[in-house]
Amino acid sequence: MTASFRDMRIASAFCVALVSPDDFDGWRVNARRLLMADVPPDRVAWSEPGGAGGDLFAGSDKRLPSPPVDAEQPRVPRAFLQLAQSAILHRDAERLALLYRLLWRLQSKPGLMEDAADPDVRRIEELARTVRRDIHKMRAFVRFRVVDEADGGEHYVAWFEPEHHILRANAKFFVNRFTNMAWSILTPAGSLHWDGTSLTEGPPAQRGDAPAGDATEDLWRTYYASIFNPARLKVGAMLKEMPRKYWKNMPEAALIPQLVAGAQAREAAMVDAGSDLFAGEGRPTSLQAIGEEIQACRRCEIGCNGTNAVMGEGPSAALMIVGEQPGDVEEQQGRPFVGPAGRLLRAHLEDAGIDERAAYVTNAVKHFKFVQRGKRRLHQSPTAKEIDICRWWIEGERGIVKPQLVLALGASAARGMLGKTVSVQKERSRAHRLEDGTELWLTTHPSYLLRLQDDARAVEEKRFADDLRSVAGRLAELTA
Ligand code: URA
Repeated sequence: MTASFRDMRIASAFCVALVSPDDFDGWRVNARRLLMADVPPDRVAWSEPGGAGGDLFAGSDKRLPSPPVDAEQPRVPRAFLQLAQSAILHRDAERLALLYRLLWRLQSKPGLMEDAADPDVRRIEELARTVRRDIHKMRAFVRFRVVDEADGGEHYVAWFEPEHHILRANAKFFVNRFTNMAWSILTPAGSLHWDGTSLTEGPPAQRGDAPAGDATEDLWRTYYASIFNPARLKVGAMLKEMPRKYWKNMPEAALIPQLVAGAQAREAAMVDAGSDLFAGEGRPTSLQAIGEEIQACRRCEIGCNGTNAVMGEGPSAALMIVGEQPGDVEEQQGRPFVGPAGRLLRAHLEDAGIDERAAYVTNAVKHFKFVQRGKRRLHQSPTAKEIDICRWWIEGERGIVKPQLVLALGASAARGMLGKTVSVQKERSRAHRLEDGTELWLTTHPSYLLRLQDDARAVEEKRFADDLRSVAGRLAELTA
């Protein structure tokens, strides 16, 4: 479009100026009026304080038309309204026009919100998602620092840099969470002040307006270091959840680099600690001996709960299948994979052409870990330490069974085989090597599939079936 043509279009547009970037009510009232007056989206110019549109449309003072008295009320589907309330808080300058365009299109296509492939619907959903994430980040990462007041009281002040216009939308959360404190949250876009009874808004602030640090920070750091679990560290996931840009305002973040650096060493120490518990003991040389010894094993808390240990089952085979731990039914019957997860596993093995009777089936952890709820025993995942202790047994079994391929189901089984935590979703569907060269494949656990519903279940079951087919193919090659 040439500059002069664009200028003509702008001159003929109706301009709507919002009083603030998060002025949803202003947007809604004006959008309704424009719709009722039948003004198409390309005849409307939206602007907000501080936005580029403000200057661009400054010369145009075209007043909004009055709708005819018999104009129909616009249709505003609830799904649109919900998304729009979040999306308007995005800093994208195009969002106001985009929202109006979608609302305009909804008048002739009321089902449009269900069309996930529509570019306008997709974009609004994306904006709303980003805003919700920013709201969540602010709730999670605001850190108050205490300031002593002249009257002897304490005032808590936090500095935060939201990416979108979410400050006002988050005010209620902070008032409810910190009702009994006097606090201020300062941001480059404005500030909030709560004195214990009323909330006021203030002007934008600078980082230097907030205090730099206080004694509560040591407490945060001590707490964070104590809950930090090296075995569960996934740096990628951590950075996604807590991006670096928030670190500078979080006292505990100063510890992250050193904790990450030390994590591998600490994890290796945990694995070693597992084998230390067997120091001086020779590994049993038969499956029967392992089966007897695990019944008496009390080296971790699960072993100490006095339930039946469940031994692996099957012939010395080319394929060893490793699950997590026995469930309720397995513990009662003393056999692996005889409950619902086992039934699903068997069906998939059969579909993939794997003869279950020709596989050795076992678990990374030998005892059932659970919490008692009334009459029910609810499964609990084993900790990394518990899995590491039990590696003594699974490695014993592997040494006797001598499989050519191990299939580990789920994260605990993966850790049991590798001695370290890996992401199953990332590492599945391809061959890995154990230290002695044995091939290892990872996939999800059938219990995970059982917990999914509808489409999600169908998608994951297909991936599981694909993995088992790859394993079947690989086994055929290895044993040819
Ligand atoms: N889940 C497992 O991981 N193993 C079993 O034996 C049963 C359920």
